[in-house]
Amino acid sequence: MNISFNEQNRVFKLDTEHTSYCIGIVDEENFVGHIYYGRKLTEDNLVYLMRTEEAPFVPSQYNRERTSFLDSFLMEYTGNGLGDYRESTLEVRTMGGHTGVSLSYVSHRIYDGKEELPGLPATFGKDTECKTLELTCEDPVLHLQIILSYSIFADNDAIARSVKIVNGGQEPIYLTKVLSACIDMDNDDYEMISLHGSWARERAIQTRPVMKGKQSVSSVRGESSHQDHPFIAWKKKETTEENGDIYAMNFIYSGNFLAQIEEDQFDNIRVVMGIHPNNFCWKLEVGESFQAPEVICLYSADGIGGMTRNFHDLYRRHLIRGEYKDKKRPILINNWEATYFDFNTEKLLSIARQASELGIEMLVMDDGWFGCRNDDNSSLGDWQVNEDKLKGGLKYLVDEVNKLGMKFGIWLEPEMVSPDSDLYRAHPDWAIAIPGRVGSLARNQYVLDLTRKEVRDYVYEMIAAVLRSANIEYVKWDMNRQLSDIGSYGLPADRQGELFHRQVLAVYELQDRMTKEFPHLLLENCSGGGARFDGGMLYYSPQIWCSDDADAVERLSIQAGTALIYPLSTMGAHVSDCPNHTVGRITPFKTRGYVALAGTFGYELDVTKIPEEDRNMIPEQVAMYHKYNDLVREGDYYRIANYADNHYYDCYEVVAKDKGEALVTYVQVLGRPKMQSMRVRIPGLEPEGTYVIENAQDWPEIKQTQYKGATLHYAGINIPPLTGDFQGRLMHLIRK
Ligand code: DGJ
Repeated sequence: MNISFNEQNRVFKLDTEHTSYCIGIVDEENFVGHIYYGRKLTEDNLVYLMRTEEAPFVPSQYNRERTSFLDSFLMEYTGNGLGDYRESTLEVRTMGGHTGVSLSYVSHRIYDGKEELPGLPATFGKDTECKTLELTCEDPVLHLQIILSYSIFADNDAIARSVKIVNGGQEPIYLTKVLSACIDMDNDDYEMISLHGSWARERAIQTRPVMKGKQSVSSVRGESSHQDHPFIAWKKKETTEENGDIYAMNFIYSGNFLAQIEEDQFDNIRVVMGIHPNNFCWKLEVGESFQAPEVICLYSADGIGGMTRNFHDLYRRHLIRGEYKDKKRPILINNWEATYFDFNTEKLLSIARQASELGIEMLVMDDGWFGCRNDDNSSLGDWQVNEDKLKGGLKYLVDEVNKLGMKFGIWLEPEMVSPDSDLYRAHPDWAIAIPGRVGSLARNQYVLDLTRKEVRDYVYEMIAAVLRSANIEYVKWDMNRQLSDIGSYGLPADRQGELFHRQVLAVYELQDRMTKEFPHLLLENCSGGGARFDGGMLYYSPQIWCSDDADAVERLSIQAGTALIYPLSTMGAHVSDCPNHTVGRITPFKTRGYVALAGTFGYELDVTKIPEEDRNMIPEQVAMYHKYNDLVREGDYYRIANYADNHYYDCYEVVAKDKGEALVTYVQVLGRPKMQSMRVRIPGLEPEGTYVIENAQDWPEIKQTQYKGATLHYAGINIPPLTGDFQGRLMHLIRK
């Protein structure tokens, strides 16, 4: 990794192991231009690539058409309203009501390491592990400083970008849009990849051509959302899983976002990402600064899979923190689908007793243990134990569970309040609301206004009191509604536009306080399933509940979409009850186990009630988890076939970093008559290494059990047709 500055040409060059990124300062106005992003180059004089002298866009002092220049030049970051008519990344409103803003390079700093972003999640690394370039730019009229940061890593090709705005002027200014990153480049017939979904079917992969105009994905729901995802990639048409150019941006943030590709009149593209400008307006007093969240930019020449593996490594090493960062997680059993709200101490203990005998390591008590919460109509905010349900109290239950040799975990939804709660009755103004309007309910609840310090402190003390009261070793932090009716009784009129972002900052602050006071806690974020599965949350919790749909077949595509960016170690995945509570499908218990193995692994069922045959399989699944989890958590992930595309089968693989072993998961979703065996190519192995199928007994149809890595990759292996729908198998390959 290296960052250099060629003073003569005024070119910055950032080199990761396989990529180069070049920025040029041009013209007497010191515009910051984008020159190149792609495969690693040794040459640093790329100034000739900048189209500064192509008529009619001549930026000379005497013969300039500034609007034409600004509207075509490839920028690193943009101002607004002065001639660049493409999507802007920074917009302001002065006290005089004007919106023009521009930026010119002033100075720079290159340093070892990477600074924290105050109050925000961000990637990190030691001084020996990363380097940062900080470009300080200024609007010469407003005296607004715009500091662009770029950090690179010794062991990864990602570039982490962020932007800080400092008001160096004489009066306050309103920031009405601050995106975090912009990449301008020539189009190359790109296709855009994005993730879309809904409740219970999050993050389906979508690919579409990049066309003239703007194509965007976004959330204005106050969270990253089930619907869209703060991720965007653009790749050449011919790019495959294994080969070809792909670029990507992923936002380390959990609130409103905009991610967009715009193709302009000259066939250039501008890709931007940042906080969505809708309902955003931040008042910056003189001398104050605003820090925009981080965007991870990636280029890979090794196809979609190359991009994925870079993201996984980056997040495992430089984003996820805490005690469980590199540790196997306890196998948990959660009572949500087992009991919903209908449980008591005895019921939970009966589940725990049975579970502990089967090798399950932690009981998680889900929603319904507090206030008078017997359905979802009440009590959020009243975090006192319901002793009618939990006779003897929480500590008694936890101690009894601990006596069984199991850990205990609890569900919380700290950001919310039910209208039918003591908290709301005492403080109706603590909910986010617009005065004079009847608030819009979602799941019968309102969102607490965490922008107010007294509300944050109250919420923190409530949850900390619960955690201090017993030996609680895991928290599932849920958020079951999106934001609406944006209004705060605590913010002045000209700061209401800060609410969305301040609310996200408040959630980060609460999780930061909690993980500091309880450093041994395993935190799992959740939002009505997987609506807040994002890089921001991963900074606080090493795992996130992927989706409320735990059906093994639905999970194939949900987990494939999630794993496009996020490591398998982060995906909350459980074996759930059948018929599945969301789609009614009946799948074999074995297959449910194989699919959950690709995530954190656990159970979401009443283990005392499931068929004995299934229950008897649990010890085997537990052993399988212990056998494979190090590999699944730490290995390189390869997508081989996606059921969402081929409608027949799904296949993926995890290869150990030293290529000594690999685990292939194969799920034949639908049985078909008169089928040949399926030729499956298994990549990522050492080409000349000899691999044996370690669990050959599970593949009686396959006679040959030993292959060279290259043979498995290029020629493949024939997987026999399996009888029945929803049939899964694992293949464990070991290098001899
Ligand atoms: C949504 C979560 O995704 C579920 O697992 C469960 O915890 C419910 N909320 C409880 O209300």
